[in-house]
Amino acid sequence: MPESVDMIFADPPYFLSNNGITCNSGRMVLVNKGEWDKSRGFKENYEFVKKWLLLCQKVLKRDGTIWVSGTSHIIYSVGFAMQELGFKILNDIVWYKINPPPNLSCRYFTHSTETIIWAARDKASHHFFNYRLMKEMNSGKQMKNLWNILPPGKDEKKFGKHPTQKPLQLLDRIIKASTREGDLVLDPFCGSSTTGVAAIKNNRKYIGIDMSEEYLSLSVKRIQEAINRGH
Ligand SMILES: C[S@@+](CC[C@H](N)C(=O)[O-])C[C@H]1O[C@@H](n2cnc3c(N)ncnc32)[C@H](O)[C@@H]1O
Repeated sequence: MPESVDMIFADPPYFLSNNGITCNSGRMVLVNKGEWDKSRGFKENYEFVKKWLLLCQKVLKRDGTIWVSGTSHIIYSVGFAMQELGFKILNDIVWYKINPPPNLSCRYFTHSTETIIWAARDKASHHFFNYRLMKEMNSGKQMKNLWNILPPGKDEKKFGKHPTQKPLQLLDRIIKASTREGDLVLDPFCGSSTTGVAAIKNNRKYIGIDMSEEYLSLSVKRIQEAINRGH
């Protein structure tokens, strides 16, 4: 429905599954997350980004906001498309992963961050920011845009693994920062529904979309557990 969603978190394909290598538990492995993450070339990738961003903009309420995560493979396209579509960019968060895998080629710096762009629907939006809570969560000091957050722990993967699962702590902070209790949160690339678990934990409503039945059934298990826990 148009103008019905308070906040969107989108963790889209980064288009980085192109037979590169990385290190997983001390072993060299290919960085292939799935067919859905294969690059279709710069222009087609960009058209895809712009298309889903436009759909997101349509369902956002006037004062709603969107968060989009990405690495260098995609985040500049996201930022450019947002500007073309008239979003108002509020922040770029740098998520520092603290304990990243080493760079096996030794020809680059170790990749240890992702960027998360936070934007309001348009220039006229009066976005919500829970400034006080963020300050409180940061020992009384203003929260900066550099977030040190570990990758998801074993407990977050007990129902099965998603290859690009986000940590619950990251989504918990995003939801607390930009929504109120009862708000509707949408994740258009929900995967294992980390966003959904964080939404339920914080008494928000949630809609998750994914093309994969396997990931949707993983989502259902995680969400069911969050509901059963009573938060
Ligand atoms: C980066 S992952 C999201 C991971 C998620 N944030 C989590 O914590 O588990 C992106 C997801 O988008 C889904 N996907 C890719 N292309 C899609 C499309 N065109 N429509 C819907 N889902 C898509 C994939 O199946 C994948 O689960």
